[in-house]
Amino acid sequence: MNNDAIRERATALFPGAVNSPVRSFRSVGGTPVPLVRGEGAHVYDADGRRYVDYVGAFGPLILGHAYPAVVEAIRRAAGEGTAFGALTPGEVELGQRVVDAAGLERIRFVNSGTEATMTAIRIARAATGRDVVVKFDGCYHGHSDGLLVKAGSGVATMGLSDSAGVPEAIAAKTAVLPYNDARALHAWFESAGATTAAVIVEPVAGNMGLVPPEPAFLTALQELCSASGAVLIADEVITGFRLRYGLSGLLPDAGLVCLGKVIGGGLPVGALGGKAALMDLLAPAGPVYQAGTLSGNPLVMAAGTAALDALADGRAYARLDQLAAHLENAARAAIKRSGAPASIVRAGSLLTLFFRPEPPRDFAEAKESDTAAFARFHRAMLARGVMLPPSQYEVWFVSAAHTEAEIDATARALHEALHEAASGAPS
Ligand SMILES: Cc1ncc(COP(=O)(O)O)c(C=O)c1O
Repeated sequence: MNNDAIRERATALFPGAVNSPVRSFRSVGGTPVPLVRGEGAHVYDADGRRYVDYVGAFGPLILGHAYPAVVEAIRRAAGEGTAFGALTPGEVELGQRVVDAAGLERIRFVNSGTEATMTAIRIARAATGRDVVVKFDGCYHGHSDGLLVKAGSGVATMGLSDSAGVPEAIAAKTAVLPYNDARALHAWFESAGATTAAVIVEPVAGNMGLVPPEPAFLTALQELCSASGAVLIADEVITGFRLRYGLSGLLPDAGLVCLGKVIGGGLPVGALGGKAALMDLLAPAGPVYQAGTLSGNPLVMAAGTAALDALADGRAYARLDQLAAHLENAARAAIKRSGAPASIVRAGSLLTLFFRPEPPRDFAEAKESDTAAFARFHRAMLARGVMLPPSQYEVWFVSAAHTEAEIDATARALHEALHEAASGAPS
């Protein structure tokens, strides 16, 4: 089957032809690109075209595609049985690694980041006896009902502020504040601190494009949660084991931490963790119910363990930082030369090029980006063999499989594509 044949069949089968909205390429005016193979820093479509990949499966593939030790670990685990619905040694192996590196007392594995954040909130409500959850405009925490209020990522990409189908009574329990705004946070806690069960936050926002946190914001978050008794939930689904081995280190006082992506080595995973006093509220130790047929699946545990073993000595992070800095500098130079009203933002191996002259500090500013110019730019990059996430509001993921040669090729494409996007020329 070639690209067109796959797309045609998918259109009849799946709503919008995809199984997750951003893959549709709708916001960049394209059609989904069916991928059949990945190797290192490259992906291949069904027509045999090769692309340098900066999607990285939206975050998990920090080691690149088909990393041999991960593939071998999955193969070995599959040979022993693909699921048991019982305690397995693989869970203990990965659990220990994550707990040690992230400084957690307890962990529970789930199947996605969505499940992790949903469960963390349930624990926070049970622990505090309060209902209200605070989130930040443009932060995405998965697609559970209460967290789809003003979410970034695919919700923003599709031009929605909220999702249909979320009962008002549930949405009313979610308060939304601007990111990076310590003053708004103070004002909130002054009036509603006593009813706030939890504040959930991405320590580095990655779902409105990349928006790094301001130190005063992080300090206020921790101080206000601690003073009011609200549980601070650090959503490190993107940042955990991505910025460094373990947590980002930006929210050391968080009561609960959510993980996903990197810790599953490219297979479906999520996890939540924290101190035993909170985590032991989970059934069967405590009264908060949560369960999963395939949670802690042995293939996932094996893939995650192999991935973390490859990352544990920290050398990959130094290399990622170097590669991503190289790309950042190249992008900055290309922006300058093209005269495009754009900016580049980086944190470790995460980057976003905004079609806005200054990097945004919150979602209101991110939304000022020229998304039509981004769409032209995206198409121009794709035509030059560079696969970027198909939305202004997603981050680019550099992997340890990228080399200077690929970054240089990307830099050349960037220069031409920016010129084309800025001039409005069709590509
Ligand atoms: C910060 C953050 N939290 C939670 C999620 C949800 O994770 P999943 O897609 O595995 O449900 C995502 C997904 O991109 C995310 O970026």
